[in-house]
This record gives sequence, structure tokens and C-alpha cells, in this order.
Amino acid sequence: MPRYAITTFGCQMNVHDSERMHEVLRRAGYTESDDPRAADVVVLNTCSVREKAEQKLLSEVGRLAKWKQTHPEMVLVVAGCVAQQEGEKLLTRSSGIDLVLGPDNIPELPRLLDDIGLGAPPLVRTVFDLEAPRFLTALFDDGGSAPTSGDAPPSPPVAVRAPTAYVTTMKGCNERCSFCIVPYTRGPERYRPSAEIIAEIAGLVSAGVREVTLLGQTVNSYRDPSSELARAPGASPDDPDESEFAALLRRIAAEVPGLARLRYTSPHPRHLTPSLIEAHADLSVLARHVHMPVQSGSDRVLKRMIRRYTRAEYVARVGSLVARLPDLSLSTDIIVGFPGETEDDFAATLSLVREVGFRGLFGFKYSQRPYTPARKLADDVPEAEKSERLARLFEVSEELLGAHLQGLVGSRQRVLVEGAGKEGTNAWSGRTERNEIVHVAGAEGLDLRGTIVEVVITRANKHSLQAELSEEARAAAKPLPVVPAVPVDTPKPRAAGERRSLPIVVAGGG
Ligand code: SAH
Ligand code: F3S
Repeated sequence: MPRYAITTFGCQMNVHDSERMHEVLRRAGYTESDDPRAADVVVLNTCSVREKAEQKLLSEVGRLAKWKQTHPEMVLVVAGCVAQQEGEKLLTRSSGIDLVLGPDNIPELPRLLDDIGLGAPPLVRTVFDLEAPRFLTALFDDGGSAPTSGDAPPSPPVAVRAPTAYVTTMKGCNERCSFCIVPYTRGPERYRPSAEIIAEIAGLVSAGVREVTLLGQTVNSYRDPSSELARAPGASPDDPDESEFAALLRRIAAEVPGLARLRYTSPHPRHLTPSLIEAHADLSVLARHVHMPVQSGSDRVLKRMIRRYTRAEYVARVGSLVARLPDLSLSTDIIVGFPGETEDDFAATLSLVREVGFRGLFGFKYSQRPYTPARKLADDVPEAEKSERLARLFEVSEELLGAHLQGLVGSRQRVLVEGAGKEGTNAWSGRTERNEIVHVAGAEGLDLRGTIVEVVITRANKHSLQAELSEEARAAAKPLPVVPAVPVDTPKPRAAGERRSLPIVVAGGG
């Protein structure tokens, strides 16, 4: 059986797309290899959001191309955003690539590999599915060969790899943030019918998934293309920022009662409308954490970024959310060194971080990208200054996170256990609904994976919490199977490079 390996760079959307490639390939008879050098097909799922990510890809392609000189049978596939952005140009920039595959063309992967196997020259397939958008799903149509969802009732996924899963609700982006290449690499917004989203979540839950994260570039601009959603409480049809996202959340909560936790990423502040705040207040399935990218605390910079809100509007919106749910944690994305960002602008960002009290943030140095409106602006903040601002930003954010974690010591928390902790420690690890990472001790011989357990927090680490299983949870837990002693199905982290999940910890850079 031919073997494949996938390396993932970039955001959750790429992690999701890689999972779908795994399924497409396994379904076509391929088996996974841990080692790209032992694989017949090597896929690099790429990110182009910052230049550094793109450079990483090119050097990886270079390494593999060299290997290929002595192993010419290996097929090298470049997928994801760099593939979409560069298309045919990639073939001239780097020899050794056999297939350039855009994010909307994943279902075609096995067929294209067959063509290459039959001797086709290097292929480029980067076509947006604008007319009939396809949404990749973990569920397979009955008898269908392509893993796109459709009208047929879904059958269970081939394998549930973890108690948490991503589900796409939309793709593309209609915003035009001046720094961002995503609208170019992922195309215009296309939404998935709500019934399909519900069917995928229900199928995942029946196969053992406990927590779902809804994915979209502006996930809360959602509108149901099949117009099946009832208007959500608090929704104002006259508000141009209103969407049907709150209605979608309500439908998920009502129709998939077995789902333990629901998250979403990334929302745009414009669509944090009263209806979404109402949904947070009403739906206990919604996690008490929202990642709400702000990018800057300076109105001057926000305007040049074309973010379409002011600092005061952002603060008012997240303020209304936190007023309804005081225990909710907020995290954010921030860019430092945007063209023209002065020390005063940056100071405004730092003051915003303190004012909102973010408990986590992804900080990035501005990176000029092709095809973006900000290309016309001089990238005038020196690299050393960007690094320095980023370090100062992280300092503030670490301080806020540290104080928050310290405040939780001694409290009881409910943790969704995602997998085994560090090898040899007998510990498990998972997240609270506010997304703090918790390492759980006192669970020797118990199988906690995929369960929600009550723990007592014993210590705050820099970015995570240490905890003991509560007596009650210990008494209720299942014992581990005798052999093997350590769960063998804990999924290996698949992603390399710049993978972003939704931790409450400081991350990022570049
Ligand atoms: N809406 C998307 C955002 C994609 S880009 C989402 O769902 O996450 C992710 C983050 O990368 C942005 O929020 C921004 O903070 C950062 N970013 C995007 N373009 C960038 C650039 N040119 N330079 C530096 N950071 C950038
Ligand atoms: Fe990018 Fe702004 Fe859309 S950050 S993904 S253009 S909301």
C-alpha cells in the first residue's frame, strides 16, 4: 500500500484541512507514515500569512527536493495558502514539486496522484469552488467517495482521533484588512448550510467527540445559505453587522444535546452583536472563552488596517459580553510594527491589553505580504523595533496571565481531558472551559481521556495549571485497560511550523 506523510503549517483551518487530506488519502488506500522520507507521497500544507511562514515552506521544499534527487519516485505535494497564492510560479521557483493543490481542491487529491502515477507532468490545481462550495467533513456520505458532506445521512467518521474536533462553518473572507493575504488565498466568503454543520457535529459527538470548535475566517459573520434558522433573540435585522451566527449556535445547542463544549474561532469584533452576547448568556454549552482579534489599540492604526471599528467600539463590545459573563476569558491577536505605528500608537496597544485584561494573546511582527493593500505603505518600523515591541507586549500579557492563573490556585475546575500528559508522569492534560491548560495528577491507573473531570488546582505554572483529581472524580473514573498501561491512541501532534491552536498562553511571533 502506498504511504503518505503530511506536514502542517499555520492556522486551525490548515490543521482541519490536513485532517481532511488524511481521510481522503486513507480512503483511497494510502497508509500514513511518520517519516516523510519513508513516504511515497509527501504533502506540505502551507501558510503564507507572514513571510517567515512562507520561507519555512520554501526551505522545507528545498530539503525534500534534495532528497528526491536520490529517491525520484517520491511525489511532493504543496497544498494550502502558498499553493493558492503562488500556483504555477511555485514550479519554477522550486524543482521537485509534483503537485500544487489549493485548499478548495483537496477532494481531487487521489485522482491527481493517480494522474502523476501515470506519468503526468507537474500539475497545478488551485480553483476556488465559487459556484458550488464544498465543505470537507469528517463524515462520509453513504457510498460517496469524496469526503464532502451532502444530502445523504452521514455515516460515522472513519476514526475519531481526539475528543476535540474542528468543524467548518464558512470559508473565505470578505473583510479587507489591509495587512492580510487571507482574502486572496482563501477567496470570498462562502457559507455552509446549517443542516450540514449540525449533521457533522452530531456524527462527531456520536463517535465520541466532546468539544467542537467552529471554524471560519470571520466565523461570526455566518449566514445560513438555506435560510433554515429562526431569528435569534436580540438580533436586529437593521444592523448591518448582524449575522445568523447566534442562531446557528442556538440550533447546535438544541439539536446536539450530547455536545459538551462549543467554541468558535476567529470572530470579527464587528459581528459581536447583542444577539451573540445573548447566546453566550443562554447557552451553557458555549465555553467561557472568546478569542477576539483586535490587532491594535490605536485608532489611527486600526483605520489604516481597515479593521472597521474603533478602540472604543471594541472595548464596548467585549465589555458588554464580559458584563453578562464575568468569568469569561478573552484572548486576542495583535500586530506590532504596522506601517506608521509610532511609539504612542504602540503604547495605546499596551494600554488596551491592560484595559481589556486579555488572558492570552498571539503577537505578530507586521510582515508585508503580496496582494495586500498595506503593500502601498512603507514597512517603516525597523525590525529591531518590532522585536522590541513584541517583547514588551508579551511581558504585559505574561504578567496578566500569570496573575490570572495564580488566582485560580485552590479553586475547583472542570477539565475536559484531551490526552496523556508528559510521558512517564502518569499525568493527563486538558483544558478548562476558559481554555486554561491543566495538567492533572492523582489519576494513576485511571482512563480519563475524553472525560470531563473535576480537579483542584494546586499550582500555577507560567502558562498552565497543575491540578489533582478531586476525590469524587477519582471514585467515578474508569480504570485504564491493564495492557497497555499508557493509552496508545493519543493522537500525535501533527502540525509543525507555526501551528496555532487556541491556548490561553502567549504564543506567536514572527
Ligand atoms: N480571521 C483569521 C485571521 C487570519 S490571520 C482567523 O480566523 O484567525 C491570523 C492573524 O495573523 C491575524 O489576526 C493577524 O493578527 C495576523 N496577521 C495576518 N496578516 C499578518 C501580517 N501581514 N503580518 C503580521 N501578522 C499578520
Ligand atoms: Fe484577514 Fe481580516 Fe479576514 S485578518 S482573514 S482579512 S478579517
